[in-house]
Amino acid sequence: MKKIDSFEEYQEQYEKSIENPEQFWSDIADTFNWKKKWEKILDWNFSEPNVNWFKGGKLNITENCLDRHLKTQPNKTAIIWEPNNPNDAHKTVTYKELHEEVNKTANALKNLGVNKGDRVCLYMPMSLELSYTVLACARIGAIHSVVFAGFSAKSLADRINDASCELLITADGFYRGKKYIDLKQIADEALEITPSIKHSLILKHSNMDVTMKQGRDLWFHEQVNYQSTECEATTMDAEDPLFILYTSGSTGTPKGVVHSTGGYMVYAEYSFRNVFQYEENDIYWCTADIGWITGHTYIVYGPLLAGATTVLFEGTPTYPNPGRFWEIVEKLKVNTFYTAPTAIRALQACEIENVTRYNLSSLKTLGSVGEPINEEAWQWYYKHIGKEKCALVDTWWQTETGGIMISPLAGITKEKPTFATYPLPGIQPVLVDEKGNIIEGNNVEGNLCIKFPWPSMIRTTWGDHERCKNTYFSTYKNMYFTGDGCKRDENGMYRITGRVDDVINVSGHRIGTAEVENAINSFEGVVESAVVGYPHDIKGQGIYAYIICEGNIENNETLSQLVRKHITTEIGALAKPDKIQVVSGLPKTRSGKIMRRILRKVAEGNFDSLGDTSTLLDPSVVNEIVEKRDLVG
Ligand code: WTA
Repeated sequence: MKKIDSFEEYQEQYEKSIENPEQFWSDIADTFNWKKKWEKILDWNFSEPNVNWFKGGKLNITENCLDRHLKTQPNKTAIIWEPNNPNDAHKTVTYKELHEEVNKTANALKNLGVNKGDRVCLYMPMSLELSYTVLACARIGAIHSVVFAGFSAKSLADRINDASCELLITADGFYRGKKYIDLKQIADEALEITPSIKHSLILKHSNMDVTMKQGRDLWFHEQVNYQSTECEATTMDAEDPLFILYTSGSTGTPKGVVHSTGGYMVYAEYSFRNVFQYEENDIYWCTADIGWITGHTYIVYGPLLAGATTVLFEGTPTYPNPGRFWEIVEKLKVNTFYTAPTAIRALQACEIENVTRYNLSSLKTLGSVGEPINEEAWQWYYKHIGKEKCALVDTWWQTETGGIMISPLAGITKEKPTFATYPLPGIQPVLVDEKGNIIEGNNVEGNLCIKFPWPSMIRTTWGDHERCKNTYFSTYKNMYFTGDGCKRDENGMYRITGRVDDVINVSGHRIGTAEVENAINSFEGVVESAVVGYPHDIKGQGIYAYIICEGNIENNETLSQLVRKHITTEIGALAKPDKIQVVSGLPKTRSGKIMRRILRKVAEGNFDSLGDTSTLLDPSVVNEIVEKRDLVG
């Protein structure tokens, strides 16, 4: 696949993609290996919604990630695994070895009775085997559902049950920084309430002792090691689901975003090559976890489709010290480095010697993803990491979009700090006002929608198509609604301003306020709660919880700690409130709706502009909330 080489070419390609999307995507799709060519490029409506790309086409994505590279570059490194502990050796896997490992794993899954269309849940450390199992599922047409290994037993069980997964693949445990995560024990707790699970495959990763449940638990190595290194790739329809990935929204429990095989494949490689301007021998490193969409598309699928060398890092930015990222960049001679603003801000707050003691001259391209990047972080990243020589791409996208939607193309698009700049070819963003009118022209602000389909877009939410329709395609007619607010400047460049719904973005992780409220409300003695986001120096947004308790309970540290612990077991540590305030009432309208606007203002410490409170059922609760804000635990 040829990449775009100049801004003029980007403009030409963009025009072409709008005027004739079918021809545009057909030319790109032609560069892949299909077992049978599609009959129709695109068939769509956003009202049901029903979107089909490359209809009738047959393929297997792993043949494109692996087999097609075997002829040209079997001995090229596909994955470099960098362990949590820098004293342990890193490992490299060539394309030939990866092909063999994936096939062995795929044969093991088949042997356990996993068939095309079955769901397999992966709850694993950032290990090589996680990448093998993702691809092994794809090899045999099983649908993978990766659950981030920081989620609680309950969250894991909910996700397993929602998709009726038959197999869970997990590990004994692993270290994240200094902290040991007893993954097997958490998984065991989940498996007590997951009737669909027939087997659990356990990877020996930390070598800690674990108890195996007879008849259910099997060792990964015992099932995989003896398998054949050949496994025929199952023929898939372009529209067959490739994976489910759960993500939070403004209401209810997390939903399983479903991605297709053909469209996702085409867009993953296209966006990877163009945004990062990938070149043949680049070492590429995305620091995300495979448990999130960034890891799916830009650690596993995108780079492997492009035949790149991708780094898979098990650790954290600050262990054993805040120089870890840069030590790895120097050691592996990383050319492209892709991380989240929260990590940049955390490292920016540390001594600069953590950066300057390393040689970062291999770097060509820097990327940012997951949340808006503030100007200070952008400048620090550009200056201290990129030495004012590297391209910096601020990439806006979502779990639902499958791939990067709005972003500079590295070294081609002139950057503007805090702006994701321009849409990729094929992407048609629009800004709309509250009523759904499209806002034309420049120097405007509105809600970000996409008015035309793109190949890697969400197809449905698992088990509940209505929910997909209601969440994304009903707010504005005939448009996909992103949930983000956005500005367009005088040159037509886009700047994402953050969520306009009840989703908070904490350290680049999406958390639904309703989810946290439900978890808090299930804590004994809590009557009601309301959760909002507030600006946080490192995390971008922090979680602020207002809670009403039974009896005369005042704010106190013990209560706050207990609530936090409860959230950790209900959802996971990532959803722990930063601030908890006990209140006697919440600001509600006469119809009983919580006025979050007021709660957000108080959480921000912005008391002067609380706005009109006269419509409240009991305006005095606002005074109490403001007065007691200092007592937050
Ligand atoms: C936010 C992550 C500003 C946004 C790939 C979006 C961003 C949500 C950016 C999706 C960016 C992601 N600038 N905001 N460059 N990238 N976001 O599903 O609010 O975990 O809706 O996907 O993150 O988060 P998700």
